[in-house]
This record gives sequence, structure tokens and C-alpha cells, in this order.
Amino acid sequence: MTQRSARRSPNEGLESLATFPLDGAGVKKLTVLSAKLATERVRALVFRPTLEGGAQPGESLTLAHVPPLEPARLEDDDGPRARFEFDGHTLRAQVAFKESASFYGGGASAGRLLRNGRSVEFWNSDAWRYGESTAALYSSHPLALALFIDGSCAAVLADSPRRGSLAFATDGVEFAFEAEPFDVWLLQAPDLSALMSALTELIGAIELPPLWALGYQQSRWSYSSAQEVRELAAKLRSKRMPCDAIWLDIDCLREFRSFTWDSERFPEPERLLEELREQGLRVVTIVDPGIAVAKRYPTHKSGLEGEHFVLDERGAPVLGRVWPGVCCFPDFTRESTREWWAAQVEKYVECGVAGLWIDMNEPSVFRTPSRSLPLRAQHRGLGGGDHAKFHNLYGQLMAQSTREGLLNARPHERPFVLTRANHLSGARFAAQWTGDNQASWEDLRWSIAMTLTLGLCGQPLAGADVGGFDGDPSPELFARWFELGAFLPFFRGHSHKSACRKEPWAFGGECERAVKLALERRMQFLPTLYTLFELARRTGLPVVRPMFFADPCDRALRELDDQFLFGPDLIVAPVLEDGARKRTVVLPARDAEGWYLFPAELEGRSKDMLPPGRYSVDAPLGQTPLFARAGRIIVNKPSKLHTAAQADEDPVLHVFFDSGMRATGSLYEDDGLTRGAQGKLTTLSARILRGRVVIDAFVDGEEVLDRAWRVVAHGLKTPVKS
Ligand code: NOJ
Repeated sequence: MTQRSARRSPNEGLESLATFPLDGAGVKKLTVLSAKLATERVRALVFRPTLEGGAQPGESLTLAHVPPLEPARLEDDDGPRARFEFDGHTLRAQVAFKESASFYGGGASAGRLLRNGRSVEFWNSDAWRYGESTAALYSSHPLALALFIDGSCAAVLADSPRRGSLAFATDGVEFAFEAEPFDVWLLQAPDLSALMSALTELIGAIELPPLWALGYQQSRWSYSSAQEVRELAAKLRSKRMPCDAIWLDIDCLREFRSFTWDSERFPEPERLLEELREQGLRVVTIVDPGIAVAKRYPTHKSGLEGEHFVLDERGAPVLGRVWPGVCCFPDFTRESTREWWAAQVEKYVECGVAGLWIDMNEPSVFRTPSRSLPLRAQHRGLGGGDHAKFHNLYGQLMAQSTREGLLNARPHERPFVLTRANHLSGARFAAQWTGDNQASWEDLRWSIAMTLTLGLCGQPLAGADVGGFDGDPSPELFARWFELGAFLPFFRGHSHKSACRKEPWAFGGECERAVKLALERRMQFLPTLYTLFELARRTGLPVVRPMFFADPCDRALRELDDQFLFGPDLIVAPVLEDGARKRTVVLPARDAEGWYLFPAELEGRSKDMLPPGRYSVDAPLGQTPLFARAGRIIVNKPSKLHTAAQADEDPVLHVFFDSGMRATGSLYEDDGLTRGAQGKLTTLSARILRGRVVIDAFVDGEEVLDRAWRVVAHGLKTPVKS
């Protein structure tokens, strides 16, 4: 940042960047937010650097913005302190709390869940073979969460899409971003629910995904011909492996060009997709942003005609090499370009493509020092500017316009997009996966912390490539990965083209049996998973949650990242070590009289409630230890080959009685596909009456009288009739 720019209006250039969805400047957002949050005892502040005074490099700047509804000062005795410092190029914002905290967030990066002492960089990067020392991955989530000793918490967000960093200390965090002033938002809340709901108000809520996207997804780079895809489908079905979608990577495209089909290998896509649909299999295909420079390629032609590409300093489209060869790159900052892109999507999915997988959208460009577009490339929308300014938003904007295209094609259906690159409020547009991981036990473990962190950053629909993208897993690692994947929100097996086969049966024998069990588990827990998504949409609470959500005051839970919560009432304790047949699990105390081991045989009954504590549990291959909170009802359904086939099954209520022989739960249901479908949230409670288990079910206060519930009761000392 030059001194001249330091003197200009603090928000010039920032106002138009839609990093957060609420319209307008910070003050307006804050007014809206504060009004909504008043009842939840959440305090929202914006820290804004005042640079009008002509700050000198190195000088500390005072802050300025005091929120309209909350007359708190930034340097209150009991409040956090914030300080901005400008060094001539980078503006740093330090937010220091009065006490030490456990810090989380900053988006998906390999390593542990707890972030104290670490730092992350925000520069969306194609992070092939990433590891713990890789500072910048595919997406940018400039958000830190602080959990204090008493269980109260705070979120600190930086409203900047620029290249930057976030360093977590013990009593505060430091954001640094290049070139432009930025607002820092602080949300302080008495508990995690209030915090997540406030955060969601600020960065935007998800829409409910289509149900099929929550079933198992089978992918590989690549299933390269219609014949291969038909054989894959036939095998999935003959082996009775639950699966909802087959994913087609770049080899289905003509010369790797987005929005095309290789007509030799995929001669009649429409027919193929229809055949698969009859077997309950949808198809998701890949779309990369690089548009090949080629004659007779309509997308390139119309892109040039509409001036839709990012330009160089001389005004010519910037060229870069990706899979299809030399490419131009859409300038997604322009509204008309987003519309043009959406029109490409709309036309392309007519043949029955169910959802889109947008990849390489950091954007990744081969053989350049920056491995992306030149920093001086020019964007013309959102106030205009160089690529350095818009780089981190590229993936999110592409996701937004891809989703628009799907909506134009099928206005009543929920669109499904999976993106690799994203920014803080991009969960509104797309699900996200953790990119090119490796088939190692370490990566298996990281996939938990990465998915949990994305959930904390407002992205509940996330997961890792199951089986590891790169490299060959041992049969045991492969099976364990499916066991974990079955309980992560997005569940897709995917693999690099040079790696061994990774379809569910790839390793045969015991491993294949374990994988099948995991796929069936996913199906069985789908009603619970779907309900958790509806709750995530309404409340911002992540679908899978770090263990500290069960007891934010228990310091022992804060570092745990080898077990996690699936919603509020289930603990998942996957096996993450080679050869292990047992593992330790921690069962938290707060609000829990005890926990039940969820029977491995799902129809089995657990008699004994375990008091909170630390246990060693058996975990043979094919079994993920699961624990249900006493006093809760967990809803399952019998496994079927795909999600739609499960729709008419009666729910199975696993009732885990507390010592007063009571339990409660909920179930959200709708048609799984229509946007804004009129769903129903059923509240459930169980009690014992004259030796029988009685279920009371209500929807909107009305008792449900016409429904059969299958009940599996746990915690009964003497048998009762159900
Ligand atoms: C990179 C993606 O991360 C990977 O999932 C995909 O298979 C390859 N690109 C090829 O499209």
C-alpha cells in the first residue's frame, strides 16, 4: 500500500467486494446484525482503521469505528484490544483478548485442529501433495474462533479478499493483508450456538443440499468411456454397494475442454445418464475455468465476443496453460461474464448432468512462477482491479455463477456444486473438498481436523477424498478411510489416475466387507445427517463438530481431533492407526448423564449406560465406535442402494433412555430435491407406559397419529414391548 492510498477513504475499493453477503458498508451490516443479535447476547463490533490522518509506515493507527447499537469501546477494561499497524505495504490488525484462549479456524489446512502458535496464509493455491508445512491451500477463510476458559467465545473476521495471513497466539490473533485497509469484525458470544448463529448472519447460511449429494459418491480420475461407466454402475449394483452418484473427471471432455463431451468415448451422454438414473445413479461432471484457445470451440468464441476473459495490461486476454493447453480465463468479477458462464452451464446440463464439480479454480495455471494468473492481470467487475486484488475470490465467484447456471436450468431443484477454491462466504454456493490429499494415515487423521475447521468457518458440507487421492493405500487404510468418510458430511471416493484402483471392492475380502458396511452405515444414518443439515441451515451449527461443543469448559476436549461429534448427540471415534483393533475414547460429562455404545449390529440393544470418562473400546475392522448420548433418540433407516430408494422406509428410532426412562429427538424430512420444499420437523419423545415404549411425535404442535415408528430401545434393564 502506498502512502497515497493510505490517505484515501478507508473503505474505498472495499465496499464493492462482496466478501460478506449483507449489503452495503460495515456500518449498515452491523446495524442489521446487532438488531438481530441483541436477544442472543452477542456483541458485534467492527474495527476499522482510520487512515485519513496520513499514517506513516510503522505507526500504530487508532481505530475508529464504534458500533451504533453497542456503545462499547475497543479498549474497555474488560473488552478486547485491537490495534492496526501499517508498514508501507501490509496492514496488520492485532486483536488481543484479556485472557488466553484456545484458537481454531482459518480454513482447511493440514495439521491439528487447535491452532494456537500456528499461522495460515490466504492465497488460494493448487497445493498438490500438501502437508503440515504448506501454508496456503485452496481456499481462504480469514476467520479465527476463540474459546475462553468459561466456555464463552468470540469470532474475529477480516473483511479482505487480499493475500494475507492469520497468526494465532495464545491471547490473540493477528491478521495481515496486503495493499488495502480492511475491517475487522468481532463477535463475542456467551456460547458456541449463539456465536455460530451470529457468524452465519454475517457470512451467509447454506441452502439445504439435495439428498442425493449426501449419499456415497464414486469418483476417479477418470472413468474414461461410457462403457467403463456402465461397467462401474453394474458392479456397484451387483455387489449391492450403496451409491448415489458417479463422477466424471476431465477425460469425459473433448480435449479436456469444459462444457464438452468426448463424442467417441461418450457418444450419447443423454442416454447414458438416463440409464444410470434408472439405477438410482446421478452423474456429476467436472468444469475447469481455463477455456481452451481453439477454433470451433463455442465457449471460447462466445467468451471472446463478449469480452469475458481476464485481460493483460495491454487489454488482450491473459493466456495460461492448464489441462486443455493454452487457455483464457473468465473474469468472474463481471456480472455479464457470470451470466455468460451461467448460460454455458445451463446448456451443458440439459443432457441430465445432475451437479457440477468445479476444479482448478484458484485459478491454477501451469508453468508460471505464481502458478496462477499474473498478479497484474486486469479484472473489470466489482470496481475493477488487478488479479492480486481478486485472486482469492475467483473460486467463490465461479461457484456463484455455476450455481446460477444450474438454477436457470432447473429452477425448482436444489443445485449442487462442489468447489476446490473458495472464500469465507462461499458455502452459500458450493460444497468443498480438501483437495489433493495422499493415501497416508496422517492424511486420514488430518481429514477430520480439516473438515471440522471448515464447519467452524461456515462450510458444513465438506469432506476429503476417501482412500486418499494420490498414492496407494494399504487395504486396511482404505477400509478405515471409508469407516471415517461415512460420518463426514461429504462422502466421495476419489483417486489420482496413477494410483491403484480404489472402487469399494478394489482390495476384496475383509476390506471389501468393511467398506460395504461403512457404505451401509452412511445410508442408515442418513435421516440424522439430513436433519443436521437442516439445523445447520437454520442455526449455523456445523453438522460435524469438534468435541469441545459437548463441553466448552472442559479443557481436555479442546485438543481432541481424533474423535468428533456428529450433531450434538453422537460421538464418532474412527480408527486412525495401522493395525489398531482398539482405541481410546473420551465421553464428555456436561449435559450427559452418560453415553451408550451404539451397537455395531444396528438392530442390537445396548443395555448399559457408560458414565462420562475415558474408555478403551474394541474397534475391529468394519467397525467405527459410536456413542449416543443418554436421553436422546437417534433416527436411522434401513440401508438401500441409493437415497431415493430409502424414502419410503419407516424410520427406526434408536431410543437411548436416561435414568428417568425418557429420551427426546428430532427428524427433518422433505422430498430431498425441491428448493424451498415444505419440510416437516418432527419432535420425538419416548417414555415407558405400562411396560411398553411409547413414542410421542409432534409437527408444529400437532400430534402425529398416523405413523409407524420402528423402535430399538437401549438402556432397558428388563425387556419391554415396543
Ligand atoms: C485436480 C483435482 O484436485 C483432482 O481432484 C482432479 O482429479 C484433477 N485435478 C484432474 O481433473
